[in-house]
Order: sequence, then C-alpha cells, then structure tokens
Amino acid sequence: MSAKILYGKDFAAQIKESARLEVENLKNLGVTPGLAVIIVGENPASQVYVRNKHKTCEELGIRSEIVALPENTTKNTLINTIDALNADKNTHGILVQLPLPAEIKNSSEEILNRIDPRKDVDGFHPVNVGNLVIGSPKLVPCTPAGCIEMLDLANIEIDGKRAVIIGRSNIVGKPLFHLLLARHATVTICHTHTKNLPEIAREADILVAASGKPNLVTADMVKPGATVIDVGINRIAPKKLVGDVDFDAVKEIAGAITPVPGGVGLLTVAMLMKNVVKAAKLQLKA
Ligand code: GUN
Repeated sequence: MSAKILYGKDFAAQIKESARLEVENLKNLGVTPGLAVIIVGENPASQVYVRNKHKTCEELGIRSEIVALPENTTKNTLINTIDALNADKNTHGILVQLPLPAEIKNSSEEILNRIDPRKDVDGFHPVNVGNLVIGSPKLVPCTPAGCIEMLDLANIEIDGKRAVIIGRSNIVGKPLFHLLLARHATVTICHTHTKNLPEIAREADILVAASGKPNLVTADMVKPGATVIDVGINRIAPKKLVGDVDFDAVKEIAGAITPVPGGVGLLTVAMLMKNVVKAAKLQLKA
C-alpha cells in the first residue's frame, strides 16, 4: 500500500489562518506585530526567501520591513542595524537571513547573538536554545517547529514513539530533538559518524531526514508504516529540487511521507508568522 502524502500547502494555510486571527486580536489591543528581515548581499535564493516572508506578512496583516544591505557591509554596521531594531518598539521580530557574505560569515554567531532574545523569531539565540533544552520553550526555530505542527495537524501520535533524526544542525536536527523529547518521543540523532544508520533508521516510527544529501534515505531504511518527514532541500539541477529521501521507493513502504518540494518546507514561513505573533505577545507582557 502506498503512503499517505503529507502536502504542506493545506497545513500551512491552517497555521497562517490561526496566525491571522491572532494578529487581529493583537490589533484590537493596539499592537500591530512587526517583522524586520535583514538581508546582506544578493544571494538569489535568499532574495526569494525574503520576498516570500514579506508577502506572507502582508497577507496576514503583519508589518514587514526588509533591510537590504550591500554585500560589503561590515560586522559593525550590521550590529548597529540590529541595535536600532532592538530599540524600536514597533519591531517585534528580527531575522538576519543566512548565509551571510563570505567576509562576515565567521562573525555570524556574534551577529545573531546581538538580537534581543525576545525578538529572535528564528529561535537561534543561546537564551532561546537554552529555554528549549530545559523544557521551557519561548521562540523556537521555525523549520523543526513546523515538523511538530505537521505531525499534530495530521493526527500522527508522537508520545511514546521512536523518532530518528538524520542530521545534527543547530537549525533543524538539534532543536527538533528537544521538541520531540518534550512531546515524550524516544529520540535518536544520527549523523555523518553514525556507524549503523540503516539499522537505526529502521527502528523509527517517525523518521526525519535533515542531512542535505539527496537519496540518503532508501526504502530498506524505513520500517513499514513509518512516518517519513523530509526536511532536505537539494538543488540537483538549475530547476530541480529534491529532498534527502528516495521518495518514489520510500512511499511504497512508509505510512505517511512529505514530498519535496511542497512538503514540510512550506510550514517554515507559516511558523515564522506564528513566532512574530508570539514575540509581540512576549513584549506586550514585559
Ligand atoms: N536561511 C535558510 N534557512 C534560514 C532560516 O531558517 N533562518 C534564517 N535566518 N536564514 C535562513
């Protein structure tokens, strides 16, 4: 039997609708949530992502500002820009689009850590990471949060299940580990040094691929009936995107599977909108 395909579009629409209602409520309290996205240089993929974030804000009634800085922007200029946005009470969320240009890439951590943790809608600041680890999440990274939201909206149980994540990045693998753990899954992270990946992957009720390697997950690595979430985005030709999962073969084994494109990636921007609303609420309280 072929797996149920979990298309991101409908889930994203539901999340955005709930964010839109929360924006309305905040506006009734006199607060219009605002997001500032800083983009440095002209990376074409980043420009597409940033435009998409801006468009989604406009759809939902969130104030959106794009701060486009030239490729040769210095670390100090970027830090001053962040300081000004930290101090601006109409800006509730700040996001620095990654990757930064080569000249300042080494300072990415210092730059991201400059964002006020209450405005850190990417959830990358050590304060937000720490809150997630101690089980007191505030602003959590959008892509892993989207994975959990998709499982919930698809009525796929997490509690007590075996979850295996392939990939240990700070953006996806590590935060997803903590989100699944908080929901009482038994969680394993596999990575490039893992010895018996297929064997461990086959134990998963929920298998998440976030490795950045096309076709890493093959049908023999999937337990029949498992849920397979593909977070990979790999450009294998100018116009061809694929995930980390051999979709055509794995869909014959899995119980549910996300496609790429059109899968869980679509939830990332929707979760960002949720984080902007959450940030505005956090600042309302303070
Ligand atoms: N570039 C690719 N993914 C992301 C993300 O989640 N946040 C930011 N800030 N930049 C990105």
